[in-house]
Amino acid sequence: MPRKIAVIGFGNIAKAIITPLFDKKLLDPRDVYCLVNTKKSLESIRKNYKYDINIFQSNCKDSGIIWDCEVKLLSVKPQQLKNITVIEKNSNNNRNLLVSILAGVSLEKLIRTFPNHKCVRVVTNIPITIGKGLTGIAWGDETTADQKQFTKRFFESSSKIYEFSEDLLDIFLALTSSGPAIIALIIEALSDGGLTGGLQKKLSEELVMEMISGTISLIKDTNITTAELKNMVTSPGGTTISALRVLENKSLRSALIEAVVSASIRSKEFH
Ligand SMILES: NC(=O)c1ccc[n+]([C@@H]2O[C@H](COP(=O)([O-])OP(=O)(O)OC[C@H]3O[C@@H](n4cnc5c(N)ncnc54)[C@H](OP(=O)(O)O)[C@@H]3O)[C@@H](O)[C@H]2O)c1
Repeated sequence: MPRKIAVIGFGNIAKAIITPLFDKKLLDPRDVYCLVNTKKSLESIRKNYKYDINIFQSNCKDSGIIWDCEVKLLSVKPQQLKNITVIEKNSNNNRNLLVSILAGVSLEKLIRTFPNHKCVRVVTNIPITIGKGLTGIAWGDETTADQKQFTKRFFESSSKIYEFSEDLLDIFLALTSSGPAIIALIIEALSDGGLTGGLQKKLSEELVMEMISGTISLIKDTNITTAELKNMVTSPGGTTISALRVLENKSLRSALIEAVVSASIRSKEFH
């Protein structure tokens, strides 16, 4: 790994990416230089974060060291990008690497903002915070083999990695980054169904989650298709076909397809 790594925005997702690298001793906290916006965050990280990293507030004069680092992980919110004052110090752009995890911010915009860098656009999702993320990577032009290897190592401790051309990143984001919210909503709604039928809320939610994880394991372990599984549990005139009929009537399939497409369109609007 390169000697010095800058993290521009040390929030939830950046911590989820960096901490396992410290835990596995793949990265030394002394080589990481992090930037946050507020004094409150700075003090909270100094007090509560389990590693002793170099941390700076964006308006402090010592924060200039961030711009000396060859590798930068950009992890502010997309709308905060305009507040970052980029100081281009080292003009050797064969070495400078900028890895962005900003939802919807295109490679073209990154290259415009960080002209002396090879830019890489990454999409990851919230389960990365428990080491079960999915990460999609689109390489900018001329990213070197070393920079690609480094970027993959950066994310593989906390997620599975998929490489895409940039045009597929928006739909990857829609499925995997918006997906957890869609699934949470489905879990909530199904448990409310159990609640309506007289189950306690907590028990109903537990049953739904166990049922979902059991169903996923069944599909994966036996290699059956989703259509085969559906046929296995749907008997003529039975309860399941009655439930499915309601969902078809309410256009659930179409609603889910449209939800994913809509998230993808919204992501493109940020470009
Ligand atoms: N949340 C998700 O589900 C998710 C999933 C995948 C990817 N992402 C992407 O990950 C990125 C970060 O999300 P997050 O949830 O980790 O956000 P977050 O917890 O709010 O972290 C943002 C960080 O950026 C810092 N920051 C804000 N303005 C800054 C500035 N001008 N200079 C330096 N640092 C600044 C913040 O500092 P302060 O705390 O001091 O304001 C904070 O440390 C987003 O772009 C998002 O698209 C998010």
